[in-house]
Amino acid sequence: MRPRILLADDNADMRDYISSLLRADYEVTAVADGHEALTESLRNPPAHVLSDVMMPQMDGFELLTALRSHEKTRMIPVVMLSARAGEEAKVEGLEKGADDYLVKPFSARELRARLASQIELAKLRSELLRRTQATVQNLAGRLINAHDEERNKISRELHDDIGQRLALLSITLEECIQESHGSAPTAQFSKLSALRKDLEEIARSVHELSHGLHSSALRVGLRAALKGLCSTASEQQHIKVSFEGDDLPLSDQASLSLFRVAQEALSNAVRHGQAKEVSVKLQADKGLVRMVISDNGKGFDPGARSSGLGVVSMEERLRMIGGDLKVITRLGKGTQISAQLRAPGAPKGNLRHGCS
Ligand SMILES: Nc1ncnc2c1ncn2[C@@H]1O[C@H](COP(=O)(O)OP(=O)(O)O)[C@@H](O)[C@H]1O
Ligand SMILES: [Mg+2]
Repeated sequence: MRPRILLADDNADMRDYISSLLRADYEVTAVADGHEALTESLRNPPAHVLSDVMMPQMDGFELLTALRSHEKTRMIPVVMLSARAGEEAKVEGLEKGADDYLVKPFSARELRARLASQIELAKLRSELLRRTQATVQNLAGRLINAHDEERNKISRELHDDIGQRLALLSITLEECIQESHGSAPTAQFSKLSALRKDLEEIARSVHELSHGLHSSALRVGLRAALKGLCSTASEQQHIKVSFEGDDLPLSDQASLSLFRVAQEALSNAVRHGQAKEVSVKLQADKGLVRMVISDNGKGFDPGARSSGLGVVSMEERLRMIGGDLKVITRLGKGTQISAQLRAPGAPKGNLRHGCS
């Protein structure tokens, strides 16, 4: 398929001339103004933009700035055409972010050669970007897996070592209490009883910590694990955490990812949002599994997010299972985290969340 070039020039003769030069190698769409070029680029992004500098309404430089400011058109190579010769004009064009600058009149050969080299450069750029993204994603995935393994290890140590020692201590203490019953002074006896209470609380915290760190919570299935997570958070934080959800046949990896997302979102709602109410919902609908965690906390400015890793790793976890994460938040209006993935056996299709 021939690459598509969008040509913007207010001069009809020039448009016809350039179109005729390029038509053999490119599919050319010609427009007469910067505005039209911008609208067309946003509607259907071309492989390249070739634009005159002087045009009515929106000139070539304004078009360039506008193209660079939209996510959809940011990376499109732009070659400027101008009657303004001289080094200064050319430097100005390149400084404003043009990929190349051609002075009119130019030869057909020069135009073709410059465009061909821009096309080659754009290909290299996108290949490099693709490879860098793949490397970063691979690394992020490995970090997340290593993090999970480390959590499991710490959890096992907490449970098998510290947990067991605490249990032993508790038995010994209980023996002391039994032996001193009736014989020890009241003050000593009540100190021992207070110690037993403290020990019980520490043992419970260690157990909960170990349980929260380990993915074993998922042995009972995602629905039950999420329900447990919500009721523990509700008890410990003295806030209302509701859960509503279906039992879904998800893979172990998908269950673990959703569980970790819920844990992080819940912890953020309490720690950062100081939320008093949080709801966790897990549903499957029209081939999609969706988990939504909403809080009535402070909300935040997504543009001014801290360097924390929580939200980034939630996004990454979803990406690793072919899903998608969306954060809707406003200062003073709470936060909603929505994780979405394809239900097992559902046909492949566009998964991206719609705009909020
Ligand atoms: N539910 C929430 N309510 C209020 N602020 C939040 C919420 N979730 C995230 N944030 C904001 O986003 C930042 C980044 O969160 P996160 O990536 O989890 O990192 P961390 O928790 O380590 O700071 C937090 O520091 C906080 O400012
Ligand atoms: Mg966090």
